[in-house]
Amino acid sequence: MSLKKLLIGASIASSLFASTAIAEPKVEVLHWWTSGGEAAAVKVLMDEFAANGGTWTDMPVAGGGGEAAMTALRARVLGGNAPTAVQLKGPSIQEWHEEGALSDLSEVAKAEGWDKILPDAIAKIHKCDGVYCSVPVNVHRVDWMWGNASLLAKADIKMPTTWAEFNDAADKLKSMGITPLGHGGQPWQDATLFDSVLLGVGGVEFYKKAMVELDLDALGSDTMVKVFDQMRKLRGYVDDNFSGRDWNLATAMVMNGEAAFQIMGDWAKGEFTNAGKTPGNDYLCAPTPGGGYLYNVDSFAMFKVDGDENQAGQKLLAKLIVGEKFQTAFNLSKGSIPARMGTDLSDFDYCSRRSSYDMAVSSANGSLLPSFAHGMAVRGVFSGAVTDVVTNHFNSDISSAEATKALVAAVKNAE
Ligand code: BGC
Repeated sequence: MSLKKLLIGASIASSLFASTAIAEPKVEVLHWWTSGGEAAAVKVLMDEFAANGGTWTDMPVAGGGGEAAMTALRARVLGGNAPTAVQLKGPSIQEWHEEGALSDLSEVAKAEGWDKILPDAIAKIHKCDGVYCSVPVNVHRVDWMWGNASLLAKADIKMPTTWAEFNDAADKLKSMGITPLGHGGQPWQDATLFDSVLLGVGGVEFYKKAMVELDLDALGSDTMVKVFDQMRKLRGYVDDNFSGRDWNLATAMVMNGEAAFQIMGDWAKGEFTNAGKTPGNDYLCAPTPGGGYLYNVDSFAMFKVDGDENQAGQKLLAKLIVGEKFQTAFNLSKGSIPARMGTDLSDFDYCSRRSSYDMAVSSANGSLLPSFAHGMAVRGVFSGAVTDVVTNHFNSDISSAEATKALVAAVKNAE
């Protein structure tokens, strides 16, 4: 055989070898799941990734709601050293895509049939210019109220179905020396209360106008004044030491009988589950007063990185996240429900089954709404501006009318 033929043969063999050599999948994952329930849930993903031959480097950044994690992400990207996989939310997925930062996941999406498995509304959030650029982990419901079962029984109080009922219950609890509302004083937690209060007091159409369309008339309306009035009421129901408290410590107050209620998304249920508590027995769940359903989807986006091992890791992680096994095991721990359609919910508790049922109903009647507080409704610049006003009002004595004016001004300035 001539030398030339030999060389050609060798080069074909080596290129074949290169393309068939299997890179060991690796990921570095930036997320903000650091509470007890959150850490138990993320461990499900770590274990499954390892069971499939992957190596996981964890990059947890503490701070509920993810603000600190997003600051860490920006620093890493600016330093030219993006993590391979990042927990992101709704519109921020598009913002990172516009920066050219996200990998195209269409190959995995096609192989796994994501278009057939994911509901259209969820698939849409995870596509950038029509191509999958991120994957959904779950659906959290934000407009939930959690109650300590024995405290409420002691006070002869049922889970309130209107804000007036809530206020009456809270006044009664207060007169009995019980803290009505477990709350942590951090801006995103104040915004989480605001989400539910605004939906309950203003209704579905008002929520859409004010929080999704940022309509200035709705933002400056008398209805908004009433929303701030109810926020002021809630401020009167929290204990003196709430400032700076983490959300999971507020959940622990409800768990331990130090507060009767918490208004928080169903990641709070992950805390109850992790502590071995069951709904109906130890705690009660009910949607906050008013109609509708505020959704908050946790997603992972894969950032553009070099290296076969990293890219293999991204593909494996994306595939596992949408897989049925993971969607069930993770969400049982996390308090949320699977994003994947048709997942069997028989092992889930009644709060989760209620969430799934209400989501289907609200999707059919147009009341399925993106959570403003959890970055699903509007881009970061607007949610930051609105959150500032909400938290300033909650932590000062300004009137509802002044807060309403400030809200309009903040949104105008952010435009
Ligand atoms: C996330 C949840 C998380 C919660 C508290 C929310 O924005 O969607 O997954 O548990 O913040 O950290």
